[in-house]
Amino acid sequence: MAATKVLVVDDDLNIQRVLVFTLKQEGFEVHVASDGEAGVEMATSLEPDLILMDVAMPKLDGYEATARIRAAETAPRRVPIIMLTSEADVEQRVKGLRAGADDDIVKPFHPLELIARIKALLSRSGGGEQRKQGTERAALGRLACFYGAKGGVGTTTIAINTAIALTARLNRSTALIDANLQFGDMRVFLDLGLDSSSIVNAITENDLDADLLRKLMVRHHAGMELLLAPPNPESADLVMERQRTHPRALSDILALMRRAYDYTVVDMAKTIDDFNLQLFDEADVIFVVMTADLSCLKNVRLVLETMDSLGYERSKVQLVLNRSNAYTGINVDNAESALGRRIDYQVINEYRGAISALNSGEPFMSSRPDGPLGQSVAKFTDELDAMFAAEVGAVEA
Ligand SMILES: Nc1ncnc2c1ncn2[C@@H]1O[C@H](COP(=O)(O)OP(=O)(O)OP(=O)(O)O)[C@@H](O)[C@H]1O
Ligand SMILES: [Mg+2]
Repeated sequence: MAATKVLVVDDDLNIQRVLVFTLKQEGFEVHVASDGEAGVEMATSLEPDLILMDVAMPKLDGYEATARIRAAETAPRRVPIIMLTSEADVEQRVKGLRAGADDDIVKPFHPLELIARIKALLSRSGGGEQRKQGTERAALGRLACFYGAKGGVGTTTIAINTAIALTARLNRSTALIDANLQFGDMRVFLDLGLDSSSIVNAITENDLDADLLRKLMVRHHAGMELLLAPPNPESADLVMERQRTHPRALSDILALMRRAYDYTVVDMAKTIDDFNLQLFDEADVIFVVMTADLSCLKNVRLVLETMDSLGYERSKVQLVLNRSNAYTGINVDNAESALGRRIDYQVINEYRGAISALNSGEPFMSSRPDGPLGQSVAKFTDELDAMFAAEVGAVEA
C-alpha cells in the first residue's frame, strides 16, 4: 500500500526538521513547502493525504493558504488540514478553523500528540466518507433539555451520563450543550481544559454552518460531541448580548444540530431568561430534574406552573426524580400526590459512584456502565429513546 503523504508547510527550518523526522519515523511520506505560496501549489500538484500548515509565514500566511487550498478543491476531494499555531487564544484558533482547517495544535507540541491528532483526523476523514455512504438515514434530530428544579439536584450528572448512554449504548449520534453560561461545570466533569472553543465562538459567528459548528465542538472519547460553556463568567455576557441583538442565533445553532445529530442534550442553568425560554420553546422534551425534599417539591410546582403558562403540553415536560431511593422522609407516592402528577422517571441514589466519577473526570456511564448508577441512567435513556423512536415509527408508518 502506498505510504500516506503528508505535506508540511512551514518556514521554520527547525520545525521542518523535527516534523520530517517525527513523521518519517511513523512511516509517512513527507514533503515540505517553505512558504504559503509553495504550500498552495504543492497541495494541488502533490495531492497529499494531509497537510500540516503553519500560521505565521512570509508571502502567504497559513489562514490565506488554507482558504486558497479550499477554494481550489473540487468535491469530493477535501484534504485534511491541521493548523500549527502559536496562539493558545481561542479566537485565533477559530480563525484557522473558519479558513477551512480541520483541527489545530498549539506550538510547542509533543510529537506524540501531533501523531495522535494526525491519525485521528485521517481516520475521521476516511470514517466520515464511510458514514455518509453507510447511513443515508436522516438524524432523529431531537432536542432534550435538562432543567434542575433546584441547584445541586444532579442535572449535570444526569445530562452527561444520558448523552454518553445515547452514543455508547444506543449508537445514537449525540451532541451535549453546556448551557450553564456563567458557571458551566462540564469542563470539570469531563476533565477538559479552558482552551477549547465554546458556545461563545458558535453564537458570535456570522457565517456559522454545519461544518464550522462541528469543528467548534469538542469530541469526547465516549463518542458524544460537546458544545462547551464559555470559559469564564464574563464571556457569558457575550452570549446574552448576541442573543439580544441576533434573536435567531441560538435557534440557528439548534437547527444545525438537529440536522447533524440524533439527539441534542442540553444541560440548562436554573435561571428563567430569554436564552432559557428559547431553549424551552425549541425543546422536544424538558426533563425537570428533582429530588424528594420539600423545597424541591415547592420549586417543581412553580416550574410546572410556568410551563403551563407557556402553553406546553403535559407530555413535553417530564419529571425525573434523582436519588429516588435516598431517605428523605418523602417517598415517590408522597411526592406524586403533593404534585398531583406522576413522576415519569427515577434515577437511584449512589453517592460514592457519583462523586468518584466526578472527581476522576470520567463519568460513570463510561467507566462503570454496569454499576447500579450506570444501569439506572441506562434504563432512563432506553425509555427516552423508545419514546422518540416510537414517534418516528408512528410518522413513518
Ligand atoms: N444519583 C445520584 N446519586 C448520588 N449522588 C448524586 C447523584 N446524582 C448526582 N449526585 C451528586 O450530586 C452532586 C451535584 O450533582 P450535579 O453537579 O450533577 O448537580 P446539578 O444539579 O447540575 O448542580 P448545579 O446546580 O451546581 O448545576 C454531585 O456531587 C453529584 O456527584
Ligand atoms: Mg449543573
